[in-house]
Amino acid sequence: MKFFTSLLSVLSLAACKSILLSNDDSWVSSEIRALYRELVADGHDVIMVAPASQMSSQGGAFIVPDSSDLDSDGNFGYVSAGDPAWGQDPDDPHIWYFGGSPSACISFAFEYLLPKSYSNVTIDLVVSGVNQGPNISPGYYTASGTISAAYSGIYRGYPAISFGGSNLNNSFFQDSSANDEYDPANIYAKKAVEIIDLLVDADLPSTVGINVNFPEVGYLLDNETECTDPVWKFGTMMNGGYFAPIVKYDSSSDTFSSSYKLFKDSTCNDGSGCNLPSEYDIFWARNCTTSVTGFQVDVSLPGSMDTTVKGIFDGLF
Ligand SMILES: *[C@@H]1O[C@H](CO)[C@@H](O)[C@H](O)[C@H]1NC(C)=O
Ligand SMILES: *[C@@H]1O[C@H](CO)[C@@H](O)[C@H](O)[C@H]1NC(C)=O
Ligand SMILES: *[C@@H]1O[C@H](CO)[C@@H](O)[C@H](O)[C@H]1NC(C)=O
Ligand SMILES: *[C@@H]1O[C@H](CO)[C@@H](O)[C@H](O)[C@H]1NC(C)=O
Repeated sequence: MKFFTSLLSVLSLAACKSILLSNDDSWVSSEIRALYRELVADGHDVIMVAPASQMSSQGGAFIVPDSSDLDSDGNFGYVSAGDPAWGQDPDDPHIWYFGGSPSACISFAFEYLLPKSYSNVTIDLVVSGVNQGPNISPGYYTASGTISAAYSGIYRGYPAISFGGSNLNNSFFQDSSANDEYDPANIYAKKAVEIIDLLVDADLPSTVGINVNFPEVGYLLDNETECTDPVWKFGTMMNGGYFAPIVKYDSSSDTFSSSYKLFKDSTCNDGSGCNLPSEYDIFWARNCTTSVTGFQVDVSLPGSMDTTVKGIFDGLF
């Protein structure tokens, strides 16, 4: 009996799934290429469709190329202005770029690429990231292009997971090595596969997605051996600091740049998740712990709040 149980678990681990992979840091970021590599090594069929250029903080912006050629160079010049607005990596036909935003990449995949080049293969999971930077708190739920690729999948009825990391460096995959065990991109990729393998066979409710944020690991720490296998902790996006992008004015140059600000604590409404620890607190404990939270694209008001809100307009309805 024990033999059959372990045989079955080996078989189910080997079950190959069809995964659509995207991000917002572009198709040549070290993190997405490391995750692609590890997912393929794990036996999955992976189709990557990611922006040609850096699309951080675009949120759900729907940017589509307005001609059949790129009008500017892609990230790290891997594709250039004048190249086709979408295409494949010459070294791997399942790695695609699209000259648009993350949300548009997901649509490009479902509306164009899968019917045209993949015989309408059924996608089992949409994966986004690993982002070069964390996506913590509701302020980043809306700002993050990485999370937008995930919810663009969820709106279409596919389960999805997004990943943020603590490495802010926008690095090019050809400058990294797959064999470097302390490279954060490689550590994150292995950990991401661990949680993806649990998710591909799960029955996530149809409006739900998962958001993951990895801590500082490997070279991001003074001692690179200190954290190479972070532990998991389940929490909520709420209950902690509300962290969001802001504009910052520089009076000497009379210009603006973007920055970040910690607003007040986010308020958790009456969902059961209100008892969970905040991903903000899990992340900022900076103790080799990865936060995992669930979110949902059902944006209707929870519990009795509809009645409260409708009451404001008493007499109108
Ligand atoms: C894929 O699905 C679309 C929409 O249902 C259909 O029009 C198209 O013929 C299908 N393509 C293939 C190759 O099956
Ligand atoms: C960022 O990544 C590049 C590789 O693309 C590397 O050469 C550079 O040293 C890294 N910078 C930092 C600050 O880690
Ligand atoms: C680095 O951390 C490891 C534990 O992860 C420890 O064994 C080692 O002594 C540390 N090295 C230094 C130089 O502090
Ligand atoms: C790390 O921080 C988290 C969040 O505050 C906490 O729940 C956990 O117990 C801490 N882990 C360790 C090993 O200190």
